[in-house]
Amino acid sequence: MQGREILVGVTGSVAAYKTAELVSRCVQAGAGVSVILTRSAVRFIGVATFEALTGRPVYVDMFEPREHFFGEHIGLARRAEVYCIAPATAHTIARLAHGFGDDLLCACALVFEGPVLVAPAMNVAMWRKPAVQRNVQRLRDDGFEVLDPEPGWLSCREEGTGRMADVERIFSAIQKALSRTAHGSPD
Ligand SMILES: Cc1cc2nc3c(=O)[nH]c(=O)nc-3n(C[C@H](O)[C@H](O)[C@H](O)COP(=O)(O)O)c2cc1C
Repeated sequence: MQGREILVGVTGSVAAYKTAELVSRCVQAGAGVSVILTRSAVRFIGVATFEALTGRPVYVDMFEPREHFFGEHIGLARRAEVYCIAPATAHTIARLAHGFGDDLLCACALVFEGPVLVAPAMNVAMWRKPAVQRNVQRLRDDGFEVLDPEPGWLSCREEGTGRMADVERIFSAIQKALSRTAHGSPD
């Protein structure tokens, strides 16, 4: 992972705190990591946490660029070698499945041409919902790698499938995706 470029998208789920651990693992393995938070994600985890972990700005608003003034979605997508969206809410999965570009996280997914990993996290009933399952299947059909959520205790005080894939599982999926991708030059 040394010197590789990873883009991480975080959405509005309690599981967002686990992504801090994932980002830290990637940074410790020598990767350059850029983090995008949706507006909802900011309600769950702080910008300062990811700025400290990555040593980079954290990106939230497409219209308030921190780095790429020609279009943050373009600059971030060009620099990345793999894009990992973890946790992915039902809302963002729907937006990705339908090609929405209404925020920075989704606009980056439209621009980015490399491997995209999606780690859903949600309530067990949400995960079972036909609309969610249709959207997940659509992502798979479109070439996204969806890391199925795991069974266990959910923050909504229920047992069932909906926990975000374990951090180690996501980390190793990122490693595998990078090993399949040519080492490009950052912008
Ligand atoms: C306490 C709390 C926990 C939530 N957890 C989840 C979750 O794990 N998965 C999910 O799909 N939505 C969850 N939601 C709902 C999302 O935050 C909401 O749909 C939001 O609009 C998602 O926006 P985003 O996908 O742009 O980040 C939660 C909401 C609250 C208030």
